[in-house]
Amino acid sequence: MISPSVSALVDGEVYVPGLPADHLVDTYGIPADQIAKLGSAENPHGTSPLARRAVEQVLDRMSIYPEWTSRQLREAIARRYGVTPEGVVCGSGETEVIALVIRAYAGPGEPVLMHAPCFPLYRIFATMENRKPVYVPMGKDFNLEMDHYLDALASRPKIAFLTSPHNPSGQLVSEADVRRVCEAAHEDTLVVLDEAYIHYSETEGSVHLLRNYSNLMVLRTFSKAYGLAGLRVGFGMSGNAALIEPLRRLKPTWNVGQLQLAGAIAGLQDDAHVARAVKTVVEMRGYVAQQMASMTRFRMVPHSRANFFLTEILDPALDSDIVFEELLKRGVIVKNGNHIEGLGSRYLRVDLNLKVHMDRFLNALNDLPAR
Ligand SMILES: Cc1ncc(COP(=O)(O)O)c(C=O)c1O
Repeated sequence: MISPSVSALVDGEVYVPGLPADHLVDTYGIPADQIAKLGSAENPHGTSPLARRAVEQVLDRMSIYPEWTSRQLREAIARRYGVTPEGVVCGSGETEVIALVIRAYAGPGEPVLMHAPCFPLYRIFATMENRKPVYVPMGKDFNLEMDHYLDALASRPKIAFLTSPHNPSGQLVSEADVRRVCEAAHEDTLVVLDEAYIHYSETEGSVHLLRNYSNLMVLRTFSKAYGLAGLRVGFGMSGNAALIEPLRRLKPTWNVGQLQLAGAIAGLQDDAHVARAVKTVVEMRGYVAQQMASMTRFRMVPHSRANFFLTEILDPALDSDIVFEELLKRGVIVKNGNHIEGLGSRYLRVDLNLKVHMDRFLNALNDLPAR
């Protein structure tokens, strides 16, 4: 009988993405322009205009294979972040780079360290490939418990994932903690710092540490602050190009297309678009915190530095399935905590977006009938 090599490929859990707006249009007849889509961490201002123009200009290139290593994009990234082009690998979204890292650096049965909860794809890719996820539980209000994380490094994981800001809590990993992890990691351990949401923290992140630590790789994406989630481009960087070379060998050959390359190269220059998104997100973080402070049935989990935050459900008569469905009926899509492993049924992850959408979310929460 023909069967997959790993049982997780048959019955393992797959990723549950944020719902598309069409779902509410089709299910509840809510007009598209009255829907607040707050479950996929997308850019409040949409696509980078520079990227859009660049893509429009290269439509004719669709008949031509792209340069298979994304050389021009790697060069642009290298200039921007002070690494060499050989120290950069590009993927069809950062997600692809995560999958490559797991395949290349952890063998079957070998441990891959991550927080619980965390971005589900670390765990999903690891189990699909028969690698072994190992978790560091987060503390009260999603404290990263970095001392425990450091203790866990003693078990010599092959890969140690850190997410900064962390998904789903938005907690920022301090530069000092990234240093501590790189220094404490056993020589077999690759430290992978996922900075998908770093722009929204209003810090430069820890890319500069690539100069100091040869066991560090930093991952980023064009999906968030550049507004290019539908284009699908992400990348990994290391100051130690030898860590990147296996990923380039392993990747599907032409994994980044002509339109992706042109859009990403232009998007990387679009500082104005990034700044606009960051400004909106930071303003709305303060606004929503203020508005939620007076709520008794819900609470904003503090200290998010990302473009989303966790809402804790305080009312014991409610859980995240109930609130998620009730919000849908009111035209608001969020992420149900039950769909993020390790988060449980008392939380929702909610994007920070335009004020009109945040007001839809706040009004919907206030509108939920008592049970
Ligand atoms: C922490 C984290 N890393 C990576 C990604 C994936 O990014 P991309 O769209 O580039 O695949 C996400 C997307 O939700 C994420 O939350």
